Order: sequence, then structure tokens, then C-alpha cells
Amino acid sequence: MRKNIIAGNWKMNLNRDKGISLVKNVLNRLSFESNTDVIFAPSYVHLDQLVKMCSEVSNVYVAAQDCSFSDKGAFTGEVSAEMIASFGVQYVILGHSERRENFKETNQLLKMKVQQALANNLNIIFCCGESLGQRNRKEHFEFIKLQITESLFSFSEADFSKVVIAYEPIWAIGTGVTATSKQAQEVHSYIRGIIEDKYGKQVSDKTSILYGGSCKPQNAVDLFSQEDIDGGLIGGASLNEDDFVSIINSF
Ligand code: PGA
Repeated sequence: MRKNIIAGNWKMNLNRDKGISLVKNVLNRLSFESNTDVIFAPSYVHLDQLVKMCSEVSNVYVAAQDCSFSDKGAFTGEVSAEMIASFGVQYVILGHSERRENFKETNQLLKMKVQQALANNLNIIFCCGESLGQRNRKEHFEFIKLQITESLFSFSEADFSKVVIAYEPIWAIGTGVTATSKQAQEVHSYIRGIIEDKYGKQVSDKTSILYGGSCKPQNAVDLFSQEDIDGGLIGGASLNEDDFVSIINSF
């Protein structure tokens, strides 16, 4: 019904040779019977090469880690969704907590980025998730709802069908602390519920919701066995061939 997806978010890691060699090795080990889509999300400079390497392989896609809020113009250093799409890239990650935190990306700015991505026919992996303080104060559900509502819910049902959600509790990202499968399932099911309220059950049933935050071979099977967890957005472990392949094979 809905897709299982494992996306590797390389963040600002891997030079040309290391990136190419990682992708080559992972592709060699993928099983063709797998029902899981695999996405590599490298830095912009790798995109062209990775699209060339992956375009002939079924179920394997490439994602940018971000795109500009603007379509073009005097924005030195920015990369537009149109440029990304013109290289054959299929996905873009938007709203990662590291961008929200380090580059002050707001829900409103992200809505503009979503608009750009959709206008250029890119699929979106939209990240949301709370800080530890928000969880301790039991504000996490409301916070996540606001992130999703303000950035995504003004778009049509057809547009929303291009969105994958990644729930990434900030306290679990790169910390080695993972949300328990019960904690993650609770939030995933909440997210599916708010999508159902907005777009109906058919759409919410079809939306893949990924978990991110110290997902590793050791906890992937447990996390992915939950009803509303449809895969993972993997940071650190996606840089290691054995770990990434093992996570892909965890369904
Ligand atoms: P991590 O990162 O797997 O290293 O915790 C996940 C992410 O930030 O996407």
C-alpha cells in the first residue's frame, strides 16, 4: 500500500571518491526483490554523479538536502529547486532540524521551499520533530502539528501526495539516543491522524512516515515493525556501507 523508504542523509560528509565508492558498494549489495525504496541524499556537488549511477537501478533515488526558497536571482550560494530537478534528482529534504536551528529556517520559509519543490515536480522529505525540553513539557504533539500545518497544509491533495514525512526528535539526532519504538509509533500515529483530518484516510494511509534519530542496524527491525513507521531517514549509519545495507534489509 504505502512505500517503505530508507533515505541516507549524508549531511556535510564524504568527498568525491568516498561518496562514489559508498554508493557503488551499496548498489552491489541491494536485493532486486526488495520492496523498499532507497534514497541517497548527498551534498549538492555529488548529485549529478549519483543520479548517473542510480538512474538505471530500480527503487533507488537521489535527494538534495535542501533547496532555495526562491526560483532564481541574486542569492549567492543558493541552489534552486529547478536546478536540482534539471539534473534528474527526484527528492529534496526540507526542514531538517539542523537547518531550522543553524540557519533559522521557519515554518513560513519552509512553506516557500515546499512550493518551489512542488513547482519543479520534486518529491519532498519533510522533517519535523521536537526538542527534549518540548517533550519534557509535553508540548511535542502541538509543536509537530504546527510544523506540519504551517508548512504543508495549504497545498492540494495532489501536491501532498509528493510528500514523505520524517519524524526526527532533535534529542535523538546524532546523539546515540533513539526514541523507543513505542515513543516513535505514538508520534507517527499522531502525524498520520492529523494528515487524515486534513486530507482524508486514503491520503493518510498512503503517506510514508519515516523515523530519524540514531537509527542503527541494532534498532531498525524493532522500529520498522511498528504499524506507522515506514522506514528511516538515516544520518550517521548511512555513511557506513554495512550499517546502511543492514538497515535497508530490516523490514
Ligand atoms: P542520525 O541523523 O541518524 O545520525 O541521528 C539522522 C538525521 O539527522 O537525519
